[in-house]
Amino acid sequence: MGTAGCSPSPRLRALGALAGATLLFTLWLLWQFRPAPVRVPAPPRTLLVLIWHWPFADQPPELPSNTCTRYGVAHCHLSTNHSLLASADAVVFHHRELQTRRAHLPLASRPRGQPWVWASMESPSHTHGLGRLGGIFNWVLSYRRDSDIFVPYGRLEPHEGPAPPLPAKKGVAAWVVSNFQARQRRVQLYRRLAPHLRVDVFGRANGKPLCASCLLPTVARYLFYLSFENSQHRDYITEKFWRNALAAGTVPVVLGPPRANYEAFAPADAFVHVDDFGSAQELASFLAGVNASSYRRYLAWRDRLRVRLFEDWSERFCAICAQYPHLPRGQVYWDLKAWFQA
Ligand SMILES: *[C@@H]1O[C@H](CO)[C@@H](O)[C@H](O)[C@H]1NC(C)=O
Ligand SMILES: *[C@@H]1O[C@H](CO)[C@@H](O)[C@H](O)[C@H]1NC(C)=O
Repeated sequence: MGTAGCSPSPRLRALGALAGATLLFTLWLLWQFRPAPVRVPAPPRTLLVLIWHWPFADQPPELPSNTCTRYGVAHCHLSTNHSLLASADAVVFHHRELQTRRAHLPLASRPRGQPWVWASMESPSHTHGLGRLGGIFNWVLSYRRDSDIFVPYGRLEPHEGPAPPLPAKKGVAAWVVSNFQARQRRVQLYRRLAPHLRVDVFGRANGKPLCASCLLPTVARYLFYLSFENSQHRDYITEKFWRNALAAGTVPVVLGPPRANYEAFAPADAFVHVDDFGSAQELASFLAGVNASSYRRYLAWRDRLRVRLFEDWSERFCAICAQYPHLPRGQVYWDLKAWFQA
């Protein structure tokens, strides 16, 4: 009892503890909501992409510093200067020149950890020498959807406003072909179609080459265009579909990967697939007998979509920078041949 007067009552002690807790809580709150320090973002580093050999050209094009900004990609420098190998953020090797041995891999002077990109827009049927390229490349740039840098030949994009006018039609079916070989499926199909359907054939194979600017206006006058790929492979849907047919304003009759694969790229009713018919004769009579209302359905996509073509190698290479932050690190294509031929 004698000490009771000196020590604080339990009530007072409780109040003191409460005050302490409140003070701590207030300090914590102040700390939580302290003004964020002003962070000056580091200026984005410009990436250097070295193109070891320009595709299909011994003389690379001019690559002004705004090459990639024209395609909406900033901080990306493309160069073909081999002296920059040591400082390149990625080096691109286009397959054709490796295949023909016009270009050689600088394996001995490859900086440690430098990402190397294998690039090709050709199908596996026209790609050779992959067996010796295993364990070298980190990223693939191609038309295959599962590429690290996916660069389709074309794409449909949302579009508002009136569709471009349709040219007047003067014939049923056109085909442009420069490489005509009996073993190709497209040639076999054409030969089975021709007895039942008039197909106007243009191109070098037929002695009727079309100048670059004549092709689209010429094929646009037909209801259908034979978008027959030179070989049939997953995702291999080329300018024969995007440019010669869809962009021209004619309906593609496709021979390529299965229908479901095309439907990953375009509306199901934007094209005629040869697999939808039991025979070439059935296909021919369908094409010849189409009426105005069913034909119009094939063009309905034009009211809401438009074709965007990707034809420029610079644009494809700039895409490496656009995707650079998300590209997988430390990945190696140990068996590039198996991957590409799968
Ligand atoms: C290539 O790069 C080197 C090193 O930066 C430079 O000295 C040389 O002038 C460049 N060559 C060309 C053709 O631009
Ligand atoms: C047009 O063709 C479609 C499909 O073959 C058919 O269903 C439709 O009745 C035809 N329309 C006219 C007006 O002939």
